[in-house]
Amino acid sequence: MQTVLVLFGGVSPEHAVSLVSAEAVLRNLNKENRRILPVGITLEGKWILFGGENYKDIAEDKWEQNPANCTAFLSPERGAGLCIVRGNGAETVPVDVIFPVLHGENGEDGSIQGLFQLSGIPFVGCGVCANAVSMDKSVTKLIAATTGVRQANWLTLRRADFKADADAMCREIMEHIAFPVFIKPCSTGSSVGVSKVKTEADLKPALENAFKYDKKILAEEFINGREIEVAVLGNDDPKAATAGEIDAGAEFYDYETKYVTSTSQAFIPARISEELNAKVREWAVAIFKALGCAGLSRVDFFVTRDTNEIVFNEINTLPGFTPISMYPKMWGAEGVPFAELLDRVIALALEA
Ligand SMILES: Nc1ncnc2c1ncn2[C@@H]1O[C@H](COP(=O)(O)OP(=O)(O)O)[C@@H](O)[C@H]1O
Ligand SMILES: [Mg+2]
Repeated sequence: MQTVLVLFGGVSPEHAVSLVSAEAVLRNLNKENRRILPVGITLEGKWILFGGENYKDIAEDKWEQNPANCTAFLSPERGAGLCIVRGNGAETVPVDVIFPVLHGENGEDGSIQGLFQLSGIPFVGCGVCANAVSMDKSVTKLIAATTGVRQANWLTLRRADFKADADAMCREIMEHIAFPVFIKPCSTGSSVGVSKVKTEADLKPALENAFKYDKKILAEEFINGREIEVAVLGNDDPKAATAGEIDAGAEFYDYETKYVTSTSQAFIPARISEELNAKVREWAVAIFKALGCAGLSRVDFFVTRDTNEIVFNEINTLPGFTPISMYPKMWGAEGVPFAELLDRVIALALEA
């Protein structure tokens, strides 16, 4: 019997996305010879063992009210496992592997992986350092640059400098980058705080908005390209699935387009030549290795519309696992069904 602790929710702007991923993971996880412990983290940071049977309650955000719930938290004590508190009593349940179905802040940035490491329990996905580096887009860029991959020109900007002199910051951006300019927080995901700025008048409000989410943000050159995503899987010898493509069907792939409206369309394989597809997969693996990733990651690129140049955009170390998410779909196209993909990432966690 293998005990799998599935963590979901979390103190993150991507809490709601995690709930939808978690339902899909919990539903598809092969239950044979497995005990599943679904533990949700509320937006306030409370840890709850979900006592319900219906995983749909998680996706619909009705899981916190289940009467069979109880407090549970991962012990930092090596090998202790999950502490479950019921009434006045507490028990500790050993855990074989942890599957963090968490996105963004705290879940995908190395914070919780630090706790996993202390606990001594194997876990799915990248370790502390790769998560921390991949969550911060300015740091990611510096390391990705060592591979020689092209990236959009960028400036890293600090909130303190914006507060001191916002006009000077606007001038600095306009000196270095032509409109349209992308403004994005270094450490959010799901396009939270991201703006495409076309005029000087819109620059300051976009900066103000991005600085709401992070004290460090990026101003980036606009890349007119197809959005290409590559699913990478493995530890020492990672493999990339055939690259896919997202057509946002909107100005850019913003939060609404990702989760609310249905204008976006996925293409697997991406609508690029086989040769380009092979190249972009090679870059994805090179970047995965440079960042020290393990288990899984989705590496995102642009392929420019005029000259078919590959431009690296960002990496997601715990990509979405919703039924419509690209990561499982791209492996699906390689003949790896969702349930088998989950078995594989768990096996990779145990192997590492
Ligand atoms: N430099 C850029 N040029 C063109 N589009 C961009 C650029 N940066 C971001 N975007 C658009 O914004 C979306 C979100 O930005 P991204 O860097 O992927 O952040 P997130 O981590 O929030 O997904 C991208 O999918 C793309 O549509
Ligand atoms: Mg993205």
